[in-house]
Formats: sequence, C-alpha cells, structure tokens
Amino acid sequence: MTDNAVLMVDGQTIELPIVEGAEGERSIDITALRAQTGLTSYDPGLVNTSICKSAITYIDGDKGVLRYRGIPVEQFTVQPQPNFVEVVWLLIFGNLPSREELKIFRDMLTSHELLHEDVKDQFQHIPADAPPMAILSATLNHLACVYRKYLVVDDPERLLEVIASLISQVRTIAAFSYRRSKGLPFIYPNPNLRYCANFLHMMFSSPYQQYIISPEVEDALNLIFILHADHEQNCSTTTVRAVGSARANLFASCAAGVSALWGPLHGGANVEVVEMLERIHKGGLSPAQCIRDARDKNNPFRLSGFGHRIYRNFDPRAKILKQACDRVLQITGQRDPLLDIAFELEELALNDDYFIERKLYPNVDFYSGILLRTIGIPTNMFTVCFAIGRLPGWIAHWKEQNEEQGGRIIRPRQVYVGNNLSSYVPMEDR
Ligand code: SDX
Repeated sequence: MTDNAVLMVDGQTIELPIVEGAEGERSIDITALRAQTGLTSYDPGLVNTSICKSAITYIDGDKGVLRYRGIPVEQFTVQPQPNFVEVVWLLIFGNLPSREELKIFRDMLTSHELLHEDVKDQFQHIPADAPPMAILSATLNHLACVYRKYLVVDDPERLLEVIASLISQVRTIAAFSYRRSKGLPFIYPNPNLRYCANFLHMMFSSPYQQYIISPEVEDALNLIFILHADHEQNCSTTTVRAVGSARANLFASCAAGVSALWGPLHGGANVEVVEMLERIHKGGLSPAQCIRDARDKNNPFRLSGFGHRIYRNFDPRAKILKQACDRVLQITGQRDPLLDIAFELEELALNDDYFIERKLYPNVDFYSGILLRTIGIPTNMFTVCFAIGRLPGWIAHWKEQNEEQGGRIIRPRQVYVGNNLSSYVPMEDR
C-alpha cells in the first residue's frame, strides 16, 4: 500500500500523506490541501472525515468490534462484572485503576456527590414537566456558576476534583429532576452505597423507606452505563470536542454534549424505540407496517433503534443488551410484551431486503430502553441514563484534546451557495 495519495487538479499534482492508525486503518492527511491547491474537501455529515487522532475507543463497524483503551467491551460484561467506576477511570486516565486509585476515586465521588444548595434550590423554579435533558444540560452549566474554581483547570489535582464532581453529581441531578417531576421529596445520596445503587436509591427511596436494590437490577444498570460509556466520534462527543476546542470549560462542553445527545437520531432514539413498541402493543401499528413505513421514501418514519453510521454489522452493545433483557426478565419473573415485539421486529427487518441492502442492524438504542424499563426507569429518563453513561467518554475526549500539543479550534469551512455580490436596497425603493 502507498504512503501517499496523489491528487491531480487544475493541472497540478500534489501528494497527500496517508496516516495509519494502531489497527491499520488509513486516512488521507489533507491538512495541506487548501494551502497547496486553494481547494477544501466537501463531506456533509463528516461521513468520510476523521477529525482527530484518539487513543480512547476503537470501533470496527464491519466486524462489530468495540474496545475501550484496547479492551473488548464484551470483557466488561462477564461476571464478576467490573464496576462502571473502573471503566470511567480507564477511559479518562487511560489505565485500569489500581486498588489504591480506585479507592481514592471512589472516596472523591462520595465526597463530591452532594449538589450545591443553590443548585438544588433551582429545581423549585423549573416546571415539573420540564424535559429531563433540558434540566440536565442547564444544570451542568449551573455548576459552572457555583464552582468557579473549576472553570480554569490548571493542574491534575483540580482536574480530578472537577471530574469527580461531574461524574458523581450527574446522578444527583438526574434523580432530583425525576423526583421533582413526580412531586416527590429529594432523596439525598447515601455515602455507603456504590455508584449505581446510590442512583437507584436517590430515584426510588422515600424519606421513611429505603429502596431495596436487587443485585440484578444494580448489575443491569451498571451494564447499561458501561455499554454507553464511549463511542469515539459520535455526534455528542464531537460536539464536546468542538466546544472544548475553544478552551471552553468542562461544564459548558458537557452541557453541549447533553444537548446533542437529546436528538432522536442520537441518544433520544431509546425513547422513540419504546414509544414505537408501545404503539405496536396497543394495536396502533403492526410490525409489518413499521417495516413498510421504514422502507417508504415518501414516509418520514424511520425504524428507531436500527441503523448506524459505522456499524455495518450488529452493534455489539445491542447483542449484549438483548441478552441482558432476557436474563433480567427471567430473574425478576417478569414478562414484557414489548420485548417479544422487539424480537419480532428485529426478525422482520433482518430478513427484509431494504434493511439487508443497507446493512441496517439493531443499534444500542434498540434494546437499551427495554432494559431500562425492566429495571423501573421511566421512559422520559432513558436518554438521561444514556448521558450518565456517556459522561466519562465526553470527559475523556475533552481531556485528550486539551492535552494535545498545538490543538486548534475546530472551525470547518463550507461551500457557499448563496447570492453573488448584491447591494443594499433602501426601504423606499423595495
Ligand atoms: C446512537 O454515532 C454513534 O456512535 C451513535 C451511538 C453512540 O453510541 O453514540 O451509537 C448512539 O445514536 C445510535 C443511533 C440511534 N438512532 C437511531 O436509531 C435512529 C434511526 N437510525 C437512523 O436515523 C440512522 O441509521 C442513523 C442516524 C443512526 C445513521 O444515519 P446515517 O449514517 O446518516 O445513515 P443514512 O441516514 O445515510 O442512511 C443510509 C440509508 C438511507 O437510505 P437511502 O437514502 O440509501 O435509500 O439507510 C436508510 C436511510 O434512509 N436508513 C434507514 C434507517 N437508518 C438508515 N431507513 C429506515 N430506518 C432506519 N432506522
């Protein structure tokens, strides 16, 4: 294979170096393209564009491979299941934490789990039916108002403190927004509980009765957070990088990530999937009609939870979540008709030429909502749970970019297709 690409344009021939990644993937380095040719590249949706080099997550979409710092995601799902907090440390700091590192980090998560009282008080002024993702994004930015010392992170000690605050308090914010929406009193975090158990406690305990946390529910939530922890340059992570590239603080960058994740084409899809399955269950739609509508170019309907920009094979996370749904339902003795409908829909799609031709498979959102529902998380909190899981990935990419020598602000070009030179016309002449 060649080390350079040759471009011939306007009678000029230039060579563009090819960069090769750790797994042999290759990319044409066009950093000199405009200087040498006056031309830019055109790539809507950045389908063909690598915007950075990163050592955090590797995905092979053709083979359905997903690795965190080189470790296949499947290895985080076997018993005894690693804890989400270990994966947080691995993604952000690049190594599996030692016993000592994990204890220090866990203690910091505990000491930073309480919301500032001013932040807590804001909930009283938010409508009870406000979208939880709007609350989460706004509250992450509110943290910037009360933790001014964290706006400029100039040393590793302070960075660890702000990371611990975000990772710990994102749960408290999420749980308080749920309690507010139900008109229930806030349940403060319990310093004796592990990460996921504490979130479930804040969501479902009452002042006079602690929520009984079953191990399989705690494990299922731990699995969900781990599987959502990072996914290289997805829309929300690239958003965090773009905001962070302007040297914006970590609160503002993650708040922007929450906003991007909210979209139904991205993290909001897990809500759309369950709402689609519920419509089918109530008889308003049939699985066969879903497939027909999804194929119909004149119909805006898309089969939520299907398709992916990178996976042209099964999303490995979907496979794991599908098995987890079955397992948790069996252990808890529940049956969920939506799971049976999901299985039927998947079977129809995987045998339909429209989906086969386009290599559309179930993605992480197709089963995550069903598992969240199985463990009692309400539908409007699904994408918030996705955000809790993805927060370490956003932080890891923000940190990796900030540590890059000579990092530049992300500012792409465009192809202008508007008016050519025009003149202002005074009102009396219009
Ligand atoms: C996540 O990027 C990430 O890594 C995201 C994520 C992460 O962990 O961060 O994995 C999480 O966001 C998963 C995706 C969740 N979204 C959905 O499930 C929404 C439904 N899916 C689609 O909207 C779509 O598949 C996307 C948004 C996921 C991907 O969009 P692309 O890469 O721009 O693909 P495309 O729109 O160009 O589709 C290619 C073709 C088109 O048909 P043609 O024009 O070639 O005829 O496939 C069709 C699309 O119409 N298609 C679908 C479809 N997804 C793609 N048709 C029907 N139903 C679908 N779900």
